[in-house]
Amino acid sequence: MLDGASITGRQDPPSPLALRDNEAHLFFTFTDDAAIDGLVPAYERLISDDERERMNRFRFAKDRRSFLVTRALARCVLARYVSCDPRDLAFGKNEHGRPELAYPASTRIAFNITHTSGLIILAVARQIEIGVDAEAVGEREVAAGIIGQVCSEEEIRAIAARPVELRERLFLERWTLKEAYFKARGTGLSQPMRCCSFDLDDDAVGVSFHPPLLDDPARWEFRMVVPGERHVAALCMSRTAASLHTLRCSRVVPLRSELAFAGVVPRMSAARASCVRACP
Ligand SMILES: CC(C)(COP(=O)(O)OP(=O)(O)OC[C@H]1O[C@@H](n2cnc3c(N)ncnc32)[C@H](O)[C@@H]1OP(=O)(O)O)[C@@H](O)C(=O)NCCC(=O)NCCS
Repeated sequence: MLDGASITGRQDPPSPLALRDNEAHLFFTFTDDAAIDGLVPAYERLISDDERERMNRFRFAKDRRSFLVTRALARCVLARYVSCDPRDLAFGKNEHGRPELAYPASTRIAFNITHTSGLIILAVARQIEIGVDAEAVGEREVAAGIIGQVCSEEEIRAIAARPVELRERLFLERWTLKEAYFKARGTGLSQPMRCCSFDLDDDAVGVSFHPPLLDDPARWEFRMVVPGERHVAALCMSRTAASLHTLRCSRVVPLRSELAFAGVVPRMSAARASCVRACP
């Protein structure tokens, strides 16, 4: 049995985590966090042989490190919901490659992961479809061609109407919302991205779907999440109740620390200014 003492020198085993219905938890790990370097050997002891083999297939050290920290985050956090040793968790995949918990089975825990330059996010909820996506700002040129491939006519007009210096962020907001949606559906990007269209203002996120994508906006809840100046992120969850999910956000260094993440300001699906608040 792996406990806190055997990895970190702490005596206490990690505290269990509980999820209420209509609650979602977001865990943010910033991969340039200095504490991570010293924990790499402990993370290597957490992963499975299969994960080690996948990690070693990455050519660049930064990609191997990101893969390893992602596995450590997922194992350490998810084990706390199902009260098991992080090393005992087993993961399967759906037909489109979405990771799912295979052991313990029937946990009702749904999760999704995103990683981008400098940031990993793990989103967890109970028995719903959930997808999360993050992108780093200022890392690539957003050409008109890519905007045309990804965005609907309305989105293209909304982005073009804003000052040039804002357009990358405006594009990335829509990109992350679309990816989060397709990841929540579990299909990945096998569907046309232009066929879901987002209408954003300072407070709210509206969505519409166009053929061949047939879906009901009322089935879904979207959040724009701002983890800091360097990143844009979005969360999509299937709706199970009239009220929106309560979000709890934490900043985590796996095996080391977990702090409430006060830097996140979510924009919600509902068009109510009162919904905009910092996470506790
Ligand atoms: C899932 C997908 C959207 C990932 O997008 P991305 O921006 O490159 O990467 P992100 O960091 O946001 O997400 C990657 C994580 O999403 C999860 N994921 C993988 N496939 C997924 C799917 N079908 N649905 C939801 N989540 C998925 C995994 O946890 C993955 O991280 P991991 O491999 O380290 O576990 C993209 O790879 C995809 O569309 N895959 C589906 C398969 C597919 O259509 N392939 C054809 C590609 S041309």
